[in-house]
Amino acid sequence: MILVTGATGNIGTELVAQLSDSGKRVRALVRDPQRATLPAGVEAVVGDLNQPESMAEALDGVDGMFLMPGYAGMHELLARAKKAGVQQVALLSGGSAALEDMGNAVSRYMTQSERDVRESGLAWTFLRPRSFMSNALRWLPQLAVGDVVRAQFSEVRVAAIDPGDIAAVAAAALTGGGLEGRVLELTGPQALLPADQVAVLARVLDRPLVCQNLTNEETVAELEASMPSEYVEAFVSFFVDGTLDESKVHPTVHEVTGRDPRTFEQWARTLVAAFEAATP
Ligand SMILES: NC(=O)c1ccc[n+]([C@@H]2O[C@H](COP(=O)([O-])OP(=O)(O)OC[C@H]3O[C@@H](n4cnc5c(N)ncnc54)[C@H](OP(=O)(O)O)[C@@H]3O)[C@@H](O)[C@H]2O)c1
Repeated sequence: MILVTGATGNIGTELVAQLSDSGKRVRALVRDPQRATLPAGVEAVVGDLNQPESMAEALDGVDGMFLMPGYAGMHELLARAKKAGVQQVALLSGGSAALEDMGNAVSRYMTQSERDVRESGLAWTFLRPRSFMSNALRWLPQLAVGDVVRAQFSEVRVAAIDPGDIAAVAAAALTGGGLEGRVLELTGPQALLPADQVAVLARVLDRPLVCQNLTNEETVAELEASMPSEYVEAFVSFFVDGTLDESKVHPTVHEVTGRDPRTFEQWARTLVAAFEAATP
């Protein structure tokens, strides 16, 4: 039995589907079963990662676990997992774990999550994806009202990755792929600027989209309206001060899955219905 946490999220949805399609027994951790749409045969169990004591039913009889990072009580959760007989963990981490910058709110929770898993005594695989292609879905509200896309950190080139490819690597890690003890740097096949992504969307959607490159000051103002300041500072450190380089392409997805990672265009084409629904 494989427990997928974050089962309703970008990666979890893909991972549940991939494991289920390949005939594995899958249990999905959800907080609200009414809101979760799961494939037939996938068991939904309620639990909260911030409350390890709520995870007993979810952990019962589990061999492998896909684990989201950064929740309170991670240490206790992992101890409970070990006691319940869980053998291995595939931890969703990120490139900033490598910085081990405990003064940076994002690097801190990635780093701490990796440390907690290392110390748990469970077999582990760390997945360090770069920015997700699905971050482009944040443009949907703008696409619904016009053809201008306001691009944050407009000068930063990123080898963004399809969440489905992260899920494919997680599935391999949890199903005997021989990836125990590996730290996997996961990227898509090419590093693009936000303007390049907008140009791809324009082609896929056949719309005359215009990329409005925000200055760093404008980017910070937008971020401050949407997240706590410690996270804004973390992203400014990464992408303005340049402490995190997400432009390097790594061969890992191909090495693990035997196929190339999907391009931004391939990802966008799978989401075309969602993008087309956001038409003025
Ligand atoms: N976006 C990026 O570019 C990027 C890059 C590297 C790493 N990451 C990391 O990826 C993670 C997000 O992954 P994602 O995009 O797949 O997820 P997501 O789409 O943001 O969804 C979050 C998932 O976590 C669940 N969840 C939230 N709080 C929970 C709690 N207290 N207990 C149990 N489940 C909880 C949500 O369930 P509900 O349905 O109940 O809300 C949902 O399934 C973050 O940790 C982020 O740091 C992101």
